[in-house]
Amino acid sequence: MTEAPAIEGAVLGIETSCDETAASVVVAGRTVLSSVVSSQVDLHARYGGVVPEVAGRAHIDLFTQVVADALEQAGLAAVPPGVEAVAATCGPGLIGSLLVGLSGAKALSMAWDVPFVGVNHLEAHLFASLLESPDLGWPLVVLLVSGGHTVLVEMTAPGRYRLLGQTIDDAAGEAYDKVARYLGLGYPGGPAIDAIAGAGDPTAFSFPRALMDEPYDFSFSGLKTSVVRTVERQPDASVADVAASFQEAVADVLVAKARRAVLDTSAKGLALAGGVAANSLLRRRTAEVGEELGVPTYLPSRAMCTDNAAMVAAAGWWRLTHDGPSPLTLAADPNLFLPLSA
Ligand code: KG4
Ligand code: ZN
Repeated sequence: MTEAPAIEGAVLGIETSCDETAASVVVAGRTVLSSVVSSQVDLHARYGGVVPEVAGRAHIDLFTQVVADALEQAGLAAVPPGVEAVAATCGPGLIGSLLVGLSGAKALSMAWDVPFVGVNHLEAHLFASLLESPDLGWPLVVLLVSGGHTVLVEMTAPGRYRLLGQTIDDAAGEAYDKVARYLGLGYPGGPAIDAIAGAGDPTAFSFPRALMDEPYDFSFSGLKTSVVRTVERQPDASVADVAASFQEAVADVLVAKARRAVLDTSAKGLALAGGVAANSLLRRRTAEVGEELGVPTYLPSRAMCTDNAAMVAAAGWWRLTHDGPSPLTLAADPNLFLPLSA
């Protein structure tokens, strides 16, 4: 094979923090040349959730092929491939899963003699809107809602984050997954509830909207318990009605707080991020709030909301140009949080 000419700003991104093995090539944090996501959903579905040991082993099996596919689809199937850096998620996430992508990325950076950069998975989610709408204005309020996090931040510039609030118990995606499992809708729960809720009555049950008097913090564990109690009392309740009413309660809380944040910070935009941002009702409600307030909303494409490596490559490019490469001694950190500004 012949050596490929380097593409200026091309970054290979690698994402293995949970149950998606993903690789992508993005040029200068803007132009996606490829984005390959191999989901392990089928492997975990029979257990009703992600099994960390199974996830780590699956990443090992899938890593090489996913990276090779991403390079080939980007037209970079040469050795070395002509990328200028390799970026990989270093946290938060499952330790056994993180280690696979991180170690693989370090090995590739050494073999190809290009910089390595570790990427914060939460920051990568925040970069999804920026990747698809590079000219958005600041400050931006971002509601990051995923399986592990529910965080409301004011982003005053790329890399500058002020924490407004977060969940005090379950993440929104976690609530979706737990309720779906209870309702027998399988795993992953978010898309299943989203689908069946369309056939239900969102006013059928009045589930609690927690912490509405608190400005920005969230709580979803009481809502989950309320769904369980309701179904215990009414075992014949329509699953579609329960799902629709649950989804309505989640969206009500998320959107009310995001709306408040936009008003309080005089934000120039409101963005969604994370897997739950793929939710139809949340997207519709967010767009409505943007229209009501006269503020643009940024709803990343669904593939860019759920875990992917394009967002990792984009955030990695930005970190590389601002902070330089990461040391090869960088450790995986399962509990990493966003780097907050004062
Ligand atoms: O961001 P993500 O892919 O992984 C994490 O970083 O956690 O988010 C996964 C979460 C899961 O809880 C999944 O059920 C939820 O996102 N999700 C959804 C939808 N699609 C994925 N929740 C509600 N509606 C959806 N359409
Ligand atoms: Zn994620």
